[in-house]
Amino acid sequence: MKQDTATKVIPNQSVWTSYQMPEFEPLRESIRTDVCIIGAGIAGLSCAYMLREAGKKVVVLDDGPIAGGMTEMTTAHLSNEIDDRYTEIERLHGEAGARLAAESHTAAINRIELIAKKEKIACDFERLDGYLFLGPGQNDQILDQELLASHRAGLTDVQKYECAPIDCFDTGPCLCFPNQGMFHPLKYLAGLSKAITRDGGQIFTHTHADQVESGPLARVKANHHTVSADFVIIATNTPINDRLVIHTKQAPYLTYVIGAQVPHSSVPKALFWDTLDPYHYVRLQPHKRRGHNGADSHDILIVGGEDHKTGQANHHEERYLRLEHWARERFPMMGDMELTWSGQVMETFDGLAFIGRNPLDSENVFVATGDSGMGMTHGTIAGILLADLIMGRSNPWASLYDPSRKMTVSLREFALENANVAMQYTDWFTSGDVRSKDDILPGTGAIVRRGLVKIAAFRDDAGVLHECSAICPHLGCIVHWNGNEKTWDCPCHGSRFDPLGKVLNGPSNSNLAQVDVK
Ligand SMILES: Cc1cc2nc3c(=O)[nH]c(=O)nc-3n(C[C@H](O)[C@H](O)[C@H](O)COP(=O)(O)OP(=O)(O)OC[C@H]3O[C@@H](n4cnc5c(N)ncnc54)[C@H](O)[C@@H]3O)c2cc1C
Ligand code: FES
Repeated sequence: MKQDTATKVIPNQSVWTSYQMPEFEPLRESIRTDVCIIGAGIAGLSCAYMLREAGKKVVVLDDGPIAGGMTEMTTAHLSNEIDDRYTEIERLHGEAGARLAAESHTAAINRIELIAKKEKIACDFERLDGYLFLGPGQNDQILDQELLASHRAGLTDVQKYECAPIDCFDTGPCLCFPNQGMFHPLKYLAGLSKAITRDGGQIFTHTHADQVESGPLARVKANHHTVSADFVIIATNTPINDRLVIHTKQAPYLTYVIGAQVPHSSVPKALFWDTLDPYHYVRLQPHKRRGHNGADSHDILIVGGEDHKTGQANHHEERYLRLEHWARERFPMMGDMELTWSGQVMETFDGLAFIGRNPLDSENVFVATGDSGMGMTHGTIAGILLADLIMGRSNPWASLYDPSRKMTVSLREFALENANVAMQYTDWFTSGDVRSKDDILPGTGAIVRRGLVKIAAFRDDAGVLHECSAICPHLGCIVHWNGNEKTWDCPCHGSRFDPLGKVLNGPSNSNLAQVDVK
């Protein structure tokens, strides 16, 4: 495989990471507001923008910078082809449900375009076609059925081609979904945050929301202060306030991406997805870096896939190599690899996000989660739908995305998913990853058994060992070391922690416990 040693691959940084985002202060006093939103990714900031537009006072809290969660790791396809495909969405939600799904994702792309125009956000938004093509050996019927299901869902302009009408890539038979979109997600969120604060909304970063107390006046405890609010929206990608209900209906998956150089304009701007499971996803990001001769040197071809359940597999090098191999076979003009990164998506068992009132909670607490590979549109749908629910306006999508909806997946499918979680508890009784902490190399982590307990042990680059409990504070599964991102990942519901045990992703809302080193 070709790899120019002159180009050093930057690991664990997405193609957007280098973009300088606006900065905000931490929360320093207790305040009162109409709506408190926890999480400043695309879901949280879309909610804040649309509620502010509707006249509500909003406060957004994030424990990192804005857009520093999964929104930074996205590949930012804006699509109304659902990644589980309409054939499946129709099976699970009926023809009427599939129509609403198509309508809502189409509306989300339109809304992003509209906001970018209205707020003059230069976020590189572009309309383009999306092509769904078969994996090797797959039957053409998959496309025929999807074509009919998309038409029944109202996307009557979807067409089948013998091959995508582009020179560089022989897709074979494919469906064309016209009028999709792509943009630079961080530029868009930078623009949203500016508009929110310009209109009186408040954003506080480096502010971890420790607790959400429900009630007619909800209270969010953060940084030793309280935000009191009539409504709370939990937009933390996976809810940090819901112990069980939501987490038995969705599963966390890690997905991997490579970014490689291709000559400028050698690959047309289009979105590509195949019909494998897990599927590959491809787009281009125009890159305006200047070459030695002063000309634009190259674009970045972004290729993703190789998903697996969080904490239940490893071998990231092989996954990146497989993606590279797959991409070079289809895009022979591909040059050096520049970036590799990965991130987590939450897959609901019936293919659509959970957006609405948090089950078993007060009427005024809302969640947005379960956005799978469609988080850009699902996050925008959350903005539109939750603003409507809070403003008391009716919205035709409310029951489709209701987190308390009755799921039509078979009992068998439901049981299989949850049996997988139950299986993870057997980790309590297995041996550690290494026999002794001395076997842990600098810059790596491993689970060590010490008597009845398991320790998550990380040796830093200077050789110092850091230990914490390996028990996930959410519901007690044993975390696993992720050597790619250098995180501790929980295989049950996707909580993730940094090497020293600090929580990065819910549902756990607290760090791995300290252990008595003795
Ligand atoms: C590799 C990859 C490729 C993807 N590609 C696509 C794609 O092409 N198209 C698409 O539509 N979707 C895609 N997705 C999915 C999409 O990126 C995500 O679903 C979306 O970004 C999630 O946005 P969010 O706002 O829900 O969560 P996030 O962006 O993760 O935001 C949640 C925020 O909550 C904060 N937070 C968490 N807990 C707390 C707390 N206790 N207190 C305060 N703040 C807290 C975090 O710091 C974070 O900033 C992809 C995802 C990945 C990983
Ligand atoms: S995320 Fe639920 S037990 Fe860890």
